[in-house]
Amino acid sequence: MSTVLSVEDLRVTFVSQKPPVQAVRGVSFHLETGECLGIVGESGSGKSVTAWASAGLLGADALREGKIVLEGQDWAELNPEQRRSLRGTRVAMIFQEPSRSFDPIVTLEKTFWETLRVHRPETTREEARTRATALLNEVHIADAESRLGSFPHQFSGGMLQRVMIALALANDPQVLLCDEPTTALDVTIQAQILALLNELRRRRGLSMVFISHDLETVAQVADRILVFYGGLILEEAPTDVLLSRPRQPYTRGLWDSRVKRGSHYSTTPLTLIGGSPPDPQRPEPGCPFAPRCPRSQDRCQTELPPLEGAVGRRHRCWFPLEEP
Ligand SMILES: Nc1ncnc2c1ncn2[C@@H]1O[C@H](COP(=O)(O)OP(=O)(O)O)[C@@H](O)[C@H]1O
Ligand SMILES: [Mg+2]
Repeated sequence: MSTVLSVEDLRVTFVSQKPPVQAVRGVSFHLETGECLGIVGESGSGKSVTAWASAGLLGADALREGKIVLEGQDWAELNPEQRRSLRGTRVAMIFQEPSRSFDPIVTLEKTFWETLRVHRPETTREEARTRATALLNEVHIADAESRLGSFPHQFSGGMLQRVMIALALANDPQVLLCDEPTTALDVTIQAQILALLNELRRRRGLSMVFISHDLETVAQVADRILVFYGGLILEEAPTDVLLSRPRQPYTRGLWDSRVKRGSHYSTTPLTLIGGSPPDPQRPEPGCPFAPRCPRSQDRCQTELPPLEGAVGRRHRCWFPLEEP
């Protein structure tokens, strides 16, 4: 196994706000070739900002510290031209809202052509048609060739998400960053997109980061999971270990509060974690989860516990749950 993406002590602060927003507060992880790494956490925990940073996509308002190395290349050492060339050919990203990623007045054919020409300006319209048809076939869009003249609004949400995946794959990236790609879709379509991602991953040997606020969804695709909270990793473990033997009370809370799917309780969380998430403009000195944690003691409020353990199995907690 070799590491395709390594993130070391990433800190991202939005200095445009007063006080500044500490979106990511020191996150380290690596992604191995062919692996699917899950990132789970509540809204605002820093998942998307970590993904954007990993794809070299952070805007000028973000102060970035730490090191991100993608296939041996440090983003910080690349000029804008080199960054553009890495994006698409090495790393690509898919997002929650497929409809917002498309220009409503541009046909699919033209969108694919433009995407292909970013990296190969000499691509002809005919080549683009052939390539787009193959890509749409790969994501199982029926009648691919005849759909090329369609506009985005002529596709359902699930179909459009397939098209977005095809576009992300257009320049054959090795790393695919999926940021809540199924969150806007209903459960049946969600399952189809997860199956497609799993299939593409196997067929293309992709390395994937899969992000969701929903632990159950992440567990369906990820080999290993990072639990984010307040811009920090609170726990990391292989998926089965994380679900069966969590060490961080927050992980257990997330799992216990999952929505039971397919039952008539489908909209009622079983247990809700009480309280509200931390304010990234005013982070607590201690563990960010302490104010909501059932096991919290004085030390938790004042001192941030370190992320302890071995590579692949780490937790950040002064009073972790016992290993059964
Ligand atoms: N451009 C920005 N300016 C200021 N704050 C931002 C910006 N982008 C994200 N944030 C803040 O950073 C924190 C982490 O955001 P994000 O990574 O999007 O969370 P999530 O885990 O929901 O994906 C949030 O508090 C969010 O409001
Ligand atoms: Mg997000």
